[in-house]
Amino acid sequence: MKLCMIGTGYVGLVSGVCFADLGNEVICVDKNADKINFLKKGKIPIYEPGLSELVIKNFKNKRLNFSTNLKKSVSESDIIFICVGTPSKKGSSTADLSQIYDVAKEISSSINKFKIVITKSTVPVTTGDEIEKILSRKNNKNKFSVVSNPEFLREGEAIRDFIYPDRVVIGTLDKKSNRILKNLYSPLISKGASYLQTSRRAAELIKYASNAFLATKITFINEIANLCEKTGVNVEDISIGMGLDKRIGSRFLRAGPAYGGSCFPKDTKAITSTADKFKTNLSVVKSVIKSNKNRSKILLNRVYEILNKKIKNKKITFLGVTFKANTDDMRDSSSLIMIPALSKKGAQIKYFDPTGIKKEFSKIKNVYNSNSIKDAIKGSDLVIIHTEWNDFKSINFKSLIKGKKFIIYDMRNIYSPNKIKAQGFKYYSIGR
Ligand code: UDX
Repeated sequence: MKLCMIGTGYVGLVSGVCFADLGNEVICVDKNADKINFLKKGKIPIYEPGLSELVIKNFKNKRLNFSTNLKKSVSESDIIFICVGTPSKKGSSTADLSQIYDVAKEISSSINKFKIVITKSTVPVTTGDEIEKILSRKNNKNKFSVVSNPEFLREGEAIRDFIYPDRVVIGTLDKKSNRILKNLYSPLISKGASYLQTSRRAAELIKYASNAFLATKITFINEIANLCEKTGVNVEDISIGMGLDKRIGSRFLRAGPAYGGSCFPKDTKAITSTADKFKTNLSVVKSVIKSNKNRSKILLNRVYEILNKKIKNKKITFLGVTFKANTDDMRDSSSLIMIPALSKKGAQIKYFDPTGIKKEFSKIKNVYNSNSIKDAIKGSDLVIIHTEWNDFKSINFKSLIKGKKFIIYDMRNIYSPNKIKAQGFKYYSIGR
């Protein structure tokens, strides 16, 4: 089977490389020629642990290739994965599907034999129906099958998530496509992944509903953390206690800053927008979006309290600025709200991120990048641990700084309060 991945972003590149590593012949297509040339040299445009090694290995053994020629790549392949972006439309909650439909039109003129056309991109329910309409304009219906196969990869864990997924969801009622795809995924199924065949619309909705549910779980525990802070309860005890109930489960119950990234913020908005279109009110998800928006304000207010409302000229350090650890992705990171707000109030901000300097802060007054943890925390009044990188998990603050002790606000609950306090630091964390 020859596979063609259209779009070499997170989903397309990671899935393509992993499919190649499973022994398939894969061509990854992107219209960005610089990106394709970069990839052909074994260079990776995104930060994802382990990805570079897999690209180089599979490119060398010729199972993986890169191209800008969509039509040729599609005509030579059996299974086409659409992996282009579905960002929010400017100033709207609705998903922008223009890239999906443009790609569908291009595929349409390259169908020379039976092809399975799969959406791996996150697309609103009924998008597959539209793709099918586009393909039918130029092709007989027995020449193609449109399937939904959503991806559940997490940035920073993408390769592991691909190889050991909890489930593979295939949205098609076409027996032939299902047989072919079950075979494609058989190496993962034999390692324990559940395989769910369902309708195409259901598969599309499973993806959005899953992301909306996880975002709800996080937002729920974040609000419980607020209550814990008022009542002297440790939120981690609550997460453990709730998580032991198998109906709830312990994962995604870590309280922290507002959730961010490339998926949860955009997908929660898109599912409410789709529901509105179908005259259904997803009031729970709407509340989650509102609560998450308010989360950065709550944490900022806590910073103001910690500094006795005197922010002007205070030296504040951010350890980590991306939306979570093990990624260089800044999309919808809560630091993009907090750092400018603190700068506006006159704070002097230094940040250190293991993935380096961020252009997002280049125009913000009094915000400076540091090249090391030590430099970032030197002379600081308040150190904010914003992301949970391993690099930040065992810092010996006492031996790293001589002289003035700073306050620590651990937004990821990495440290044990008693141990840090025993070193003579004032320490605040989330929900405890
Ligand atoms: C998410 C989904 O997990 C993945 O299945 C989907 O396909 C893409 O979106 P990703 O955005 O890479 O993946 O990161 P994830 O690990 O899910 O974290 C999202 C946000 O939630 C981050 O801001 C993270 O810090 C936050 N989070 C996560 C918490 O605050 N607490 C948790 O317990 C888990």
